[in-house]
Amino acid sequence: MKTLAIADTKFHLVDQGSGPPLLFVHGFPLDHQMWLGQIDALADEYRVLAPDLRGFGESESSLEVVSMERYADDLASILDALEVDQPVSLCGLSMGGYVAWQFWKRHARKLDKLILCDTRAVADSTEAALARRELAKDVLAQGTSMLVEAMIPKLFSSKSREKKPDIVEATSAVIQKANRMGVAAALRGMADRPDVTHWLRQIRVPTLVVCGEEDAISVVSEMGEIADQLPQATFTVVPDCGHMAPLEDPAFVNRAIRDFLREAQTETGS
Ligand code: MLT
Repeated sequence: MKTLAIADTKFHLVDQGSGPPLLFVHGFPLDHQMWLGQIDALADEYRVLAPDLRGFGESESSLEVVSMERYADDLASILDALEVDQPVSLCGLSMGGYVAWQFWKRHARKLDKLILCDTRAVADSTEAALARRELAKDVLAQGTSMLVEAMIPKLFSSKSREKKPDIVEATSAVIQKANRMGVAAALRGMADRPDVTHWLRQIRVPTLVVCGEEDAISVVSEMGEIADQLPQATFTVVPDCGHMAPLEDPAFVNRAIRDFLREAQTETGS
């Protein structure tokens, strides 16, 4: 792990391998460890960067609300601090996808290709946003253990829960250890995030859209609609997986990522 001090905040990240930069952005309420199935495997061909977002894992934050825009700006600052001049392929899962939309909007020159895993373009409904803000208060008062029981059944397919207890346990441990301030700030940031559906037709970068067949949070039909609206998208459904498809079936997802990056490279010459 590397530590970068940017302004008054310390960020931790994995920076492994060499080649075209491939930036992984984790979901909520997780950290870079959700990409362990990608990091070693893809570092043979790419410079794999996997930060802990502000307030998650080992990265610090003292903010009460962190917007998706702020996380995107942090990623741009991290790339600057690492002197990564080449535009990156950005792979974001769920909340990482919400951040990816903002990265495209705010830092287009730093972006070469997008990989959007198990994410959404719509904003929260009024009720969902309200529930998130209440949850933020509960997490601050009681800690993050309460999220484990609530989230695990939604994160993994029934088959993964039965056959892959190791990844389920590791993810539960990450949630349990998560910093309550960071988690609450992200919940508030997600509650405030805008609907970006009207951006989709303008996102003219090669994009891979990945969705677990049994994803209960960002369902296949909704992700298929996102892919339909993106001008240059390839859509891949990962059999027997849920919301955490890259962790549940890394071999399948890594193959899809490699094929996509190679084909997109041939087409765009980048
Ligand atoms: C995630 O996996 O990042 C979350 O499910 C996102 C969300 O709660 O909307």
